[in-house]
Amino acid sequence: MNVVNYDLLNAQLSGLLHEEHDTIANLANASALLYQILPDVNWVGFYLMKSGELILGPFQGKVACMHIAMGTGVCGTAATSDQIQCVDDVHAYPGHIACDGKTNSELVIPIHANGAVVAVLDLDSMRPARFTEADVQGLSIFAKILEDNCLWK
Ligand code: SME
Repeated sequence: MNVVNYDLLNAQLSGLLHEEHDTIANLANASALLYQILPDVNWVGFYLMKSGELILGPFQGKVACMHIAMGTGVCGTAATSDQIQCVDDVHAYPGHIACDGKTNSELVIPIHANGAVVAVLDLDSMRPARFTEADVQGLSIFAKILEDNCLWK
């Protein structure tokens, strides 16, 4: 079971970000908070939109690919379509980019500023179908807190 109290987690994020607006610093602590609190995740972090591609941002976990083209992999698909991607089995996902072969499921949530996607939050798990509707709802609020508290360029 992976019951997470998202009301508490999101309150912790709001507390951490109180009067803090630096994007990299906020994303660094946000990724650390998620990695500490969420059970069964092996990678948590951000990819940032830069010059028309996704570039690796603050994260926790093993080293990861640094460039992801728009429309490719789970992250690039989420960014291009502006749709959350909740993938029960990454091995069945066309174009999935395997940074860690042990990953089996993945959740990617787009982050917006001024109506455009500026980043994605990416979570990986070794457990198949790790991410539930409760995770999607709770982490969508987590992403919204980041949208509202970072100075996105
Ligand atoms: N699996 C992702 C790539 C990023 S890693 O998971 C950290 C994808 O397919 O976009």
